[in-house]
Amino acid sequence: MKKLYLIGNLKMNLTKTELETFFDKLVAKQYKNIAGLCVPSVYLNTAYDLLKNSCIKYGAQNVHYEKNGAFTGEISTTMLKDFAPNWVLVGHSERRAMFYESDEVVNKKLKAILQAGFTPILCFGETLEERKSGQEKKIVHDQLLSALKDIPNQLIEKIIFAYEPIWAIGTGMTASSEQAEEIIKYAKKVVAGLSSSDAIMLYGGSLNANNANEILQKPSIDGGLIGGASLNFKDFDAIIQIADSITN
Ligand code: PGA
Repeated sequence: MKKLYLIGNLKMNLTKTELETFFDKLVAKQYKNIAGLCVPSVYLNTAYDLLKNSCIKYGAQNVHYEKNGAFTGEISTTMLKDFAPNWVLVGHSERRAMFYESDEVVNKKLKAILQAGFTPILCFGETLEERKSGQEKKIVHDQLLSALKDIPNQLIEKIIFAYEPIWAIGTGMTASSEQAEEIIKYAKKVVAGLSSSDAIMLYGGSLNANNANEILQKPSIDGGLIGGASLNFKDFDAIIQIADSITN
């Protein structure tokens, strides 16, 4: 049975003390699937210290594509190395929309992350307007191709993908399990044209303990990228327990 990925995205939430308590509770658990949290960069050191000897994984939420230079407020892959994150998020719709990250920037970041030897989690997904006008597959196709432009096959195999329809992120509106399955199956086909191994693809967008069972059971879906419902131990643990009962 495949292992599912349950990856929390804390975004800009939690104090250091809250996160430490959260980590303490997570490391006390024995999960069967792969669980972890993408933390704000100021907490990467805490994650490194508290999780390095545990099964709980952690990731960075952002990184610049240059190795160093005059980029006030940014961090580089060189800096990330000391904290050994398991994953680095890239292409999240909040970064695309609020921090003006274009497809070209996403592609540069993806290359930098892969070149540094980290595992990127590449997010992609359509807006509500795009879905309403029936363009979701075209958008997903184009986003994937531009993100993966000029990346060699053997590096594409290292990427974890996350389909996150923008209309479902933080809105409480989840894609139905059928909608998520349909796009993820399609996106896997798109990636299969560029790489020789099966892509790992997660669903993200208002995933919670009420809808996790249905979504995580779908054959093409390899786990979840979870925002709001990963902000506290109780909610996040409930989702991981559901995943563990599916893969039992
Ligand atoms: P959400 O966020 O679960 O709060 O919708 C998901 C994400 O942005 O990764």
